[in-house]
Formats: sequence, C-alpha cells, structure tokens
Amino acid sequence: MLKVLNHPLITHKLALMRDEKASTKVFRENLDEIAGLMAYEITRDIPTREIEIQTPMALCKTREVATDIVIVPILRAGLGMVNGIANLIPNAKIAHIGLYRDEETLEPHEYFAKYPKHLEDAFVMIVDPMLATGGSANAAITMVKKQGAKNIRLVCLVGVPEGVRAVEDMHPDVDIYLAALDEKLNEKGYILPGLGDAGDRIFGTK
Ligand code: PRP
Ligand code: URA
Repeated sequence: MLKVLNHPLITHKLALMRDEKASTKVFRENLDEIAGLMAYEITRDIPTREIEIQTPMALCKTREVATDIVIVPILRAGLGMVNGIANLIPNAKIAHIGLYRDEETLEPHEYFAKYPKHLEDAFVMIVDPMLATGGSANAAITMVKKQGAKNIRLVCLVGVPEGVRAVEDMHPDVDIYLAALDEKLNEKGYILPGLGDAGDRIFGTK
C-alpha cells in the first residue's frame, strides 16, 4: 500500500526544504518536523492494551502502547528523520543501516548494520528522505526481514513512481508512506523536482 501524506503542514514544510536557498538549519529543522508529523499519522494503528490507573479523582480504564517501536534510519540521510520521531516516541529503539548508492550503477552497498533485539515483535519504521530507484529501501527491508522483522513501514519524504513500484514488487507486504510523490528520476537517478542530495543538504557536505 502507498499512502501519500499530503497534509497542508507537511507540504508547506517540504516546500521550504525543496528551496535551493534553504540553509542547513532550515533544511534540518523542517525534516525533523515532517518526520514527527508523519510518525504521528503512521502510528495511528499500533497495538494498545487496556490499563487501569488511579487519577487524583478516580480509577481510570485507559490504554497504553503495547508494542516495541523501532526506528531504522538508512545512513546517512535517514539520520535526519530520527530526532523528530524519537521526540514523539521517546522509548523507541533505534537500529542503524549504512548503505550508499554507487553513483554509476545506482546499486546500494552495505557498510554498517546494528539492530536491537526482538525485531520480530516490533513495529519497524525504516526512514530515509529519498525513495529514488528503490534499491536502498529494498536492501534495507531485506536486511530487517533477515533479522526477523515482520511488521514494517517504509517512511520517506519524497518518492517517485519507479521507486514505489520497485518496493511494491519486491516487498508487497510493506506499507510505503511519502510526504510527496514526485514526477520522475533524471538520468543520474536524482528525483525531479525533488530536493537534491538529501545527505549533503542535511550534513552540509556540498
Ligand atoms: C540517498 C538516499 C537514499 C538513496 C535513495 O542516499 O538517502 O538512501 O540515495 O536512492 P535509491 O532509491 O536509488 O537507492 P546516498 O546513497 O546518496 O547516501 P547518503 O545518505 O550517505 O548521502
Ligand atoms: N538520493 C538523494 O539524496 N536525492 C535524490 O534525488 C535521489 C537519491
């Protein structure tokens, strides 16, 4: 399933990020905020269980979250989405997957992986601002599945139909959430209109 979360606040913040004149500060702050807004929507159906607590006035039957939530940023750019989500879910565990895309072949290459235990029972959110060819997302999903993860969401800011199709073909069980579905890839595998190289803009490396 593909869901594009084109909420006016998300679209507004994304427009600020797309602007080539946006500073590193503006880019990072808006990425943080959008990631939090997306997580709020995506966690709408997480399992909860009934609990009873004593308020100052009376006993109250209410509910609490009943699942581990694991955020999985794809390094580097996915790191820019972690704080916004962790602010909302302070007990979330964080895995790290290091992948870089070969500039010629566009194939993803793995260079790091570290996971918390018991991914099989967790609600897993793989986060990366860009879904271009879908190669990195597919590799990351395959990696967390090998660790036992079953309940997986892919959360990206900007995607293109090619990337969405690639993930749907390889991992039809994974729901994909985007803030925007853009038009296409250019000949170098960059998203148009997109926002440029997300990692470089987050970390100021270009
Ligand atoms: C970017 C982006 C994704 C990937 C998307 O990372 O953050 O991980 O490219 O492209 P794909 O869908 O074609 O795989 P990049 O490899 O540039 O690494 P970086 O985050 O370290 O800059
Ligand atoms: N990775 C990026 O950072 N930007 C794109 O447009 C495509 C892949």
